[in-house]
Amino acid sequence: MKAVVQHRYGERDVLAVENVETPTVRENEVLIRVTAAGVDAGVWHTMAGKPYLLRLFGFGLRAPAKKIPGRDVAGVVAQVGSAVTRFVVGDEVFGTTLEGSFAEFTRAPEDRLAQKPANVTFKQAAAAPVSGCTALHGLRAGGLKAGQKVLVLGAGGGVGSFAVQIAVAEGATVTGVCGPEKVEFVSSLGATRVIDRSKEDFAAGTERYDLILDTAGHTSLARLRRVLTRRGTLVIVGGEGGGPLLGGFGRSLRAPIASLFGAQKLKALASKEDLPTLEALRDLMGAGSVVPAVDRMFPLEQAAAAVEYLHAGRPLGKVVVTA
Ligand SMILES: NC(=O)c1ccc[n+]([C@@H]2O[C@H](COP(=O)([O-])OP(=O)(O)OC[C@H]3O[C@@H](n4cnc5c(N)ncnc54)[C@H](OP(=O)(O)O)[C@@H]3O)[C@@H](O)[C@H]2O)c1
Repeated sequence: MKAVVQHRYGERDVLAVENVETPTVRENEVLIRVTAAGVDAGVWHTMAGKPYLLRLFGFGLRAPAKKIPGRDVAGVVAQVGSAVTRFVVGDEVFGTTLEGSFAEFTRAPEDRLAQKPANVTFKQAAAAPVSGCTALHGLRAGGLKAGQKVLVLGAGGGVGSFAVQIAVAEGATVTGVCGPEKVEFVSSLGATRVIDRSKEDFAAGTERYDLILDTAGHTSLARLRRVLTRRGTLVIVGGEGGGPLLGGFGRSLRAPIASLFGAQKLKALASKEDLPTLEALRDLMGAGSVVPAVDRMFPLEQAAAAVEYLHAGRPLGKVVVTA
């Protein structure tokens, strides 16, 4: 089969299409003919091998442990292992793969997959697992309730575009912060107010928020605390930037310590794409409450361009690679 393969860390030239063996499924796994594969920020991190801290957490010390990039997948079941009970050949599924999804075929344990809702396209479904589950986990970690005022930083990005829609669906009043090119887009996601970060400093206003979800980085904990209500919750999802060792993780490491002082809660999120969360996301999409926003699609041969486009912070929502 054709797959994007990466043998070393580096810039875009480390990603190249090669012919490789089609994966063999284990008893609890499903072979998927890939229709579309979502691109998330983690794909850039595995391409670059940065921040270096991640190499100590299973990425591979000198070279990537996983040779095929991509975790998000949507496609059609081509084969099932002997112990698989939830899927049959021909089912349309989405979820995450351990092996790498920038390929014609990939394999995934059945508990990482859900049926694709009929009203959702493959490219939309492929955009959903990592970013959608992160948004759901983040909002839940923040104790999201109807009627709350929620601030989403990076509202026009992958996680942010899901977070805005989910928070609105749950009955919150959402303010989104984004760059000038994404203002209209974030508004279309349901945000009541959109702050263009090139024109206005969200931390300088008088508004206070019950819950802040920060997917963008670049703002100190002190400034974020300033716009939280007295008992509000800040959830640090991530953010690029920072040095080569820690990248954007510095604030995530400091947040739990800072949380010991005062009534505000400061949390660092470590999300996962577990089955209950994936199924909750499937239901939100099936009901039409969440519609994954896919900005652009790139063929497998242009996977590196897709990763660069995302890392530059340009997509309105998500980008996907099509097999
Ligand atoms: N904790 C976890 O478990 C977890 C899970 C998934 C992802 N993450 C992390 O979460 C972060 C966001 O992921 P994503 O997939 O949503 O990325 P993304 O699609 O690139 O979105 C990030 C957004 O941040 C904004 N941004 C970029 N530079 C900025 C700056 N200097 N100041 C303010 N905003 C800036 C960009 O929009 P504007 O330019 O419009 O502002 C962009 O849309 C990444 O760092 C990722 O690694 C963490």
